[in-house]
Amino acid sequence: MLLKYHRNLRLSSLLIDVTMKLIKRYCIVMCIFFIFYLLVSNKNRLFPRLIFGEFHLLSTEFNRTIDIRQSQLYQHEISNGGIITLYDVTQDNEWDFQCPRTKYNENDIHDVRICIYDPQHDEHVSGQLNDYGKWEPVVVKSFLRLLRTLPNTHVIDIGANLGLYTLLATQYDRHVIAVEPLYDSLIRLHKSIQLNDVQHHVTVVANAIGIKHERLALNVVDKNLGASYLSYLDELAPSDKKIENFINERGIPPRVLAEVDTITLDDLVSIFPIFFKRAILKIDIEGFEALAFQNASLLFNQTEIPAIYMEFGKLIEIKYHRGMIKKIEDMLNFLKKRNYESYEVNDINHLLYDNWESWPWDVVFRRCDICRCPGLEKLVGSAE
Ligand SMILES: *[C@@H]1O[C@H](CO)[C@@H](O)[C@H](O)[C@H]1NC(C)=O
Ligand SMILES: *[C@@H]1O[C@H](CO)[C@@H](O)[C@H](O)[C@H]1NC(C)=O
Ligand SMILES: *[C@@H]1O[C@H](CO)[C@@H](O)[C@H](O)[C@H]1NC(C)=O
Repeated sequence: MLLKYHRNLRLSSLLIDVTMKLIKRYCIVMCIFFIFYLLVSNKNRLFPRLIFGEFHLLSTEFNRTIDIRQSQLYQHEISNGGIITLYDVTQDNEWDFQCPRTKYNENDIHDVRICIYDPQHDEHVSGQLNDYGKWEPVVVKSFLRLLRTLPNTHVIDIGANLGLYTLLATQYDRHVIAVEPLYDSLIRLHKSIQLNDVQHHVTVVANAIGIKHERLALNVVDKNLGASYLSYLDELAPSDKKIENFINERGIPPRVLAEVDTITLDDLVSIFPIFFKRAILKIDIEGFEALAFQNASLLFNQTEIPAIYMEFGKLIEIKYHRGMIKKIEDMLNFLKKRNYESYEVNDINHLLYDNWESWPWDVVFRRCDICRCPGLEKLVGSAE
């Protein structure tokens, strides 16, 4: 009786042993498969394709195009067939630029060094940074104030230009996806990132944001390089506003000197780091905003965006371009549907969607269920 019991016990412990071994083996196999799956599904993110070759670098200082051999660009293929061009900011940068320090004097962060253009060729952004250490101080203040109050919030900087917002955001230890198509600005941003030692806080994308994957001309506006815009906008312009007739305040027409590859806002999701779940969006792309928002629903579905800083003035200026009013209204409806309220960047004055044609140059859209909406506190959490 006892013997039988023992034998049963031995038998069952043998059985348990065998099953445990099988389970272990099964687990190991599954783990290997899982790791394999992770590797394959993230292949593009882990091993972006390196591009070698000639690249056009536009040298605005000398009004000529020079070829540089460069290897700091990587192509990241997206599952929808698009290609994102990533710029590696960890490589050496031998350019010699003037890199003044900003003078925002915030209590909790250091000012940053920013490599600028010769102020003679870029009077606005570079000129002001050089002379006063500040550009758009009211917008910057609002942006930093919001960033400071929102933990685990990163930044998407569309139209990064010289990287003012990008560099300041890194001082709060946030990650920034900085998108800028103009190589002259990229090499300066690259240098600034190194001077401030924030290489690991910034992902630089060397594309323009558009509505599909194509190559478009970028019109470079002399004396105000930050105002460079995609020439596609000129195609929508009424004849009296076409590029050949357009002269800036200094009597200098914009020059078409750079060709850029476009991607969509949605495409960006494929390069977001794993922790990148919530981000403030800053977008300043000279009127292309209204088009860019046509392809933004994946981005907004997958990322929590508490606020959007947008240069709105250009949109009002070009509202008479073909189809533009409808596109602006589509964009505003897109935002309204997603619970955004619009504000002046003083963070006080509420702007009504219906009055968009008289909005100020810069606006901020805030999602009232995530961040405080001045004057609208009662709305928060309501069914509105
Ligand atoms: C700058 O480039 C444009 C376009 O190639 C040319 O027409 C113009 O003459 C150039 N200006 C100078 C000062 O070289
Ligand atoms: C962008 O959006 C438009 C309109 O919604 C759509 O037709 C187009 O296919 C989209 N492009 C990409 C690249 O997703
Ligand atoms: C985003 O979410 C909305 C609502 O859930 C859905 O209708 C839409 O198809 C989604 N868009 C994308 C691109 O996933």
